[in-house]
Amino acid sequence: MTVDARPTLETPIPFIDLAAQRRRLGQRIDDAILRVVNHGGFIMGPEVRQLETDLSAFCGAGHAIGCANGTDALALVLMAKGVTAGHAVLCPSFTFASTAEVVAWVGATPVFVDVYPDTFNMDPASLEVGIATAKAQGLTPAAVIAVDLFGQPADYDAIEGICGQHGLWLLSDAAQSFGATYRQRRIGTIGAATSTSFFPAKPLGCYGDGGAVFTDDAELAAVLRSLRVHGQGSDKYDNVRIGMNGRLDTVQAAVLIEKLKIFPEEIAARQAVAERYTEALAEVAGTPNVLEGASSVWAQYTLRIAGGRRDALAARLKAEAIPTAIYYPKPLHRQTAYRQFPVAGGALPVSDRLASEVISLPMHPYLLRDVQDRIIDAVRRSLASL
Ligand SMILES: Cc1ncc(COP(=O)(O)O)c(C=O)c1O
Repeated sequence: MTVDARPTLETPIPFIDLAAQRRRLGQRIDDAILRVVNHGGFIMGPEVRQLETDLSAFCGAGHAIGCANGTDALALVLMAKGVTAGHAVLCPSFTFASTAEVVAWVGATPVFVDVYPDTFNMDPASLEVGIATAKAQGLTPAAVIAVDLFGQPADYDAIEGICGQHGLWLLSDAAQSFGATYRQRRIGTIGAATSTSFFPAKPLGCYGDGGAVFTDDAELAAVLRSLRVHGQGSDKYDNVRIGMNGRLDTVQAAVLIEKLKIFPEEIAARQAVAERYTEALAEVAGTPNVLEGASSVWAQYTLRIAGGRRDALAARLKAEAIPTAIYYPKPLHRQTAYRQFPVAGGALPVSDRLASEVISLPMHPYLLRDVQDRIIDAVRRSLASL
């Protein structure tokens, strides 16, 4: 791939370099946006349907439904499935707020589950405990939302097995993992439905907000399409269910059509960066473990730094103009708005520990080898002196 105007070692390192991708796509993006401006179909224009077709072809899902953002994508599925008060929806605590927020929106109760320390994803043993906790509180477990944190698929074989035993349906929150694979399956084809986000910083991001839902269930797809336009029926002014304004903008669809064309190459470039990081850092820090047979799209490359040294490492790297980020400093069950909800077995020790140990390094497909070296060297040097 060619990227002109390469950053040099003296330029500040971006955490995610959207400008490099912009330079690469150049005129193609300008033309795509202008086409929409000229045809004027800003709401549900032809690019939305085109993108849905392209996304389905890419991930293998029978139906792709574009929507306004990854949060609405989750909510649309819960609404379509009739999740409501008295239902429990099991989800990890170590995730972004949207995962649990939507459960509360529909009046149901999120029940928080712990994660594995090395993949950061839902621990099936804690899921079993969470189901028992929900029942003990008089709730009816209805569904599981598994999150593919930092780009890596959750342990779906185990989670699907538990869902099957307990009669629960599965929603895959793939806001960070669209493009990843899990044991011969592409993300988008697992569970009753999959949601994703096209927030600009996501591996496949647009130039604003955007999202999508994927499913193989034609009936569910039809309900989702109705819900995203206020619950519209075949007569536009006879709404047949309570919905929302959850449409994907045509301009964002046009941008995504162009970005999807280079996405496979970008995923490969992210994988190469992750491999170099792991090779160079595995002996000095906790490096992420990807499940056997799975691949990650590396939305984040996240280290675990034990012994209370994480914040000092972040400060040292900042002093060398190397940005880092903490995803997430507080698991949801510790946050003000979510403290009231049940927690599997009463405690989530791994989520609590990860919040004080994780640190994410710059990660994007245009991270040049010499910049990777500068980051690796700074991490190794800093840790050696802490
Ligand atoms: C795990 C997870 N779920 C859901 C979302 C929500 O996506 P959006 O910001 O597009 O609403 C995000 C986005 O940050 C996320 O990381």
